[in-house]
Amino acid sequence: MTDLILPEGADDAGFVPHRGDPSDYTSSGKLRSEVYDREIDHLQEQLVQLQYWIQQQGLKVLVIFEGRGSAGKGGVIKTITERTSPRTVKIRALPKPTERERTQWYFQRYVAHLPAAGEMVLFDRSWYNRSNVEWVMDFCTPEEHQEFLRTTPEFERMLVRSGIVLIKYWFSVSYEEQRKRFEARNAEPWKRWKLSDMDLAEHELYIRYSMAKDTTFQYTDTKQAPWFVVPSDDKRAARLNCISHLLSQFDYEDVTPAEVVLPTMRKEKYVRPPMS
Ligand code: ADP
Ligand code: AMP
Ligand code: MLT
Repeated sequence: MTDLILPEGADDAGFVPHRGDPSDYTSSGKLRSEVYDREIDHLQEQLVQLQYWIQQQGLKVLVIFEGRGSAGKGGVIKTITERTSPRTVKIRALPKPTERERTQWYFQRYVAHLPAAGEMVLFDRSWYNRSNVEWVMDFCTPEEHQEFLRTTPEFERMLVRSGIVLIKYWFSVSYEEQRKRFEARNAEPWKRWKLSDMDLAEHELYIRYSMAKDTTFQYTDTKQAPWFVVPSDDKRAARLNCISHLLSQFDYEDVTPAEVVLPTMRKEKYVRPPMS
């Protein structure tokens, strides 16, 4: 497990966009929104360049976003996809398995969504449900859990050897910050859909989820597919940190197509289509 590389002078917020300029932070230590807005514009332009590169090179990219409820997975995924094509950068957030899927090989329903050449697929949660929510909530048997921990490194090595670029992020949120976020969701009717029964259980069982995460890392933090931890109590810093790290994983070049000359409208006689 690798914490994202922090520039010198970085504090617990995890990311200092301007070499630690203290004026970039509020008195409570959160990244200022003006700094965030400026940086994110730049990163989103870079993501568009990466998109062209992925298409041109025919790369197959899979990015897994994991972490507790309210950690900010959804927010970073929205930010990544704001300016990209939904045909190249795809989001997959699978619901809980159906009765039929429950009888299949555990990875089967995820395999259907792996990237083809020229695609980057973003998984909002993933097969790691098995060693987190499913283990904590007893949705799987201890044998299924063991089998998952044993086979996931093998499965991921197969994906990587087949040419998939696999990147795994764990968004890390403290108990106190999770409480604040759940309280905010609870207080606003328009946010309440985001507060599920699973979230309430997860908050109560925060420590059990910590143990689940530790076990997950112990078995699945491999050389071919390491975990990158994104400290997420500061949402803005977490997004900048994660996106700049994602970009740093590619040696991409700017292959943006050249400007074209727009055609002018052809002058021709308008003929009314025949009525049947
Ligand atoms: P999210 O936090 O991703 O918006 P939830 O909090 O509702 O979604 O659920 C957390 C995760 O638990 C989801 O990935 C969901 O599919 C999974 N989950 C919920 N119920 C079950 C179940 N009975 N069996 C397996 N997985 C489940
Ligand atoms: P996580 O979302 O699991 O990555 O953890 C979020 C925060 O909780 C981090 O600040 C961790 O240091 C802290 N934490 C994680 N596991 C434990 C634990 N077992 N006991 C106490 N604190 C923990
Ligand atoms: C997140 O951003 O991490 C998601 O909102 C998870 C959740 O719904 O709790």
